[in-house]
Amino acid sequence: MAKSPLRILLLEDSTADAELVQDILESDGLCCDVVRVQTRAEFVSALEDRRLDLILADYSLPSFDGISALKLAIGARPDLPFIFVSGTLGEEVAIEVLKTGATDYVLKTKLSRLVPAVQRAMRESKERAERRKAEQALRRSEAYLSEAQRLSQTGSFGWDVVSGQIYWSDETFRIFDYDPATTPTVQTVLDRVHPEDRPRVRQTIERAATEQRDFTDEYRLVMPDGSVKHVAVVAHRTPAEDAQSVVFVGAVTDVTERKRAEEEHARLRQLEADLARINRVSMMGELAASLAHEIRQPIAGVAINAATCLRWLQSEPPRIEDARRTVSAIVNDVKRAADIIDRNHSFYRRGGSRPEPVDLNEVICHMIALLRDAADRNSISIRTELDPELAMTSADRVQLQQVLMNLMLNGIEAMKGDSGALTITSKRGEDGQLMVSVSDSGTGLPVEGAKRIFEAFFTTKPDGTGIGLPLSRRIIESHGGRLWADANTPRGAVFHFTVPITSDVAL
Ligand SMILES: Nc1ncnc2c1ncn2[C@@H]1O[C@H](COP(=O)(O)OP(=O)(O)O)[C@@H](O)[C@H]1O
Ligand SMILES: [Mg+2]
Repeated sequence: MAKSPLRILLLEDSTADAELVQDILESDGLCCDVVRVQTRAEFVSALEDRRLDLILADYSLPSFDGISALKLAIGARPDLPFIFVSGTLGEEVAIEVLKTGATDYVLKTKLSRLVPAVQRAMRESKERAERRKAEQALRRSEAYLSEAQRLSQTGSFGWDVVSGQIYWSDETFRIFDYDPATTPTVQTVLDRVHPEDRPRVRQTIERAATEQRDFTDEYRLVMPDGSVKHVAVVAHRTPAEDAQSVVFVGAVTDVTERKRAEEEHARLRQLEADLARINRVSMMGELAASLAHEIRQPIAGVAINAATCLRWLQSEPPRIEDARRTVSAIVNDVKRAADIIDRNHSFYRRGGSRPEPVDLNEVICHMIALLRDAADRNSISIRTELDPELAMTSADRVQLQQVLMNLMLNGIEAMKGDSGALTITSKRGEDGQLMVSVSDSGTGLPVEGAKRIFEAFFTTKPDGTGIGLPLSRRIIESHGGRLWADANTPRGAVFHFTVPITSDVAL
């Protein structure tokens, strides 16, 4: 019982009886605070006291009656225990008052029952209050859970394998699009599953039932309107309450949107890969030309030396020593040709990005060697200002070659026919990254499209693809750097890109 005094409303016309009741309560050690009233008006206003714990009421009063008081009390304070304390209370009346809602009754001839009756009433009222609080808390947490399920599009379920009984939360009904009045069964689930996924799902369910192990699954549903949903299911076998029971509790999440996003992402990646390949094929033409040019020399050397060697061998007597010398010259030339092909081999590689330590200066020199021929054909000179102390970066070498080639070819194309100069510089940038700049003295960025040059398919060239710059920017950004363009002085354009220094990135 509570330590603070019991606050009791006592409806009693007899002062003697009122005092007697109070004495009995207190003599039994109950600490109480009694408010006595005699009339209906007093009773009604006393009922407003929120601190009241209990009502004790006489049954018959001169100007008021106990049943009316009981009805008033139930109307105003349904939770307050109400005990009749009365001199006269026949059996029928007693039954009636209890039916009406009185908590108990005590006869004035048996006042020894008063304290136990009060104590019991208080105990029960406290239990009722606690139960109500627990029920409220439960209702609230159910409401939160249901809201959370709706927000996360995750429904819950319970499945008693032995009885076949299945419980679904509201969200699960929504996901499967069934009326909440439906009794879900395994068949109910299977009916919604996409026909192509059905055998597999059936197998998962059957295996879960026989092996009684946790399971996860992802499958498609076909809704009544023909639309397709993707759901992910996880289920956990709950610890058995008895040896026979097998119960799974699980969650089913509508992952349709995530799936769509994944598919869209994969589609974009594919598109990007296709564009990168197209870009590479278009650069391959340039490469083929420069390769042919580079290899022509050693091959020509081989042809001449081979003819000479034949002559030495056919002379009488054969000039073995001279023949030996020309054959080693042939070996050298063939080695040179093989080296040239090896050097360019990486460019023909397909496939995903592979970071490795890369010396940017080396990549630049390599690309210059490749494009020398294209530049010569257009009387363009290539200059470099390379920082000899340049740090390494971690990058996909082929992708960086591709970026440099795009920028350099663009520069050459912008200077076609007016013998300009292409300058490539490397240095450590202000932001601590490595910076490469490719500048030309060509036509300059298109006036109307300076902002658009990085858009896919934007080109001002009759046979351009408009892929080079957007792709290069993508490559650089995927390496954690930036790529941008400026006007060059006095004319032409300059493109800069940055990449992080190796120590900045985990290799
Ligand atoms: N160095 C440059 N000088 C002037 N304009 C350039 C330069 N580089 C690129 N551009 C402009 O940007 C456009 C897009 O370039 P890019 O994406 O490489 O595609 P493409 O070279 O196939 O046109 C070019 O068509 C051109 O208008
Ligand atoms: Mg281009």
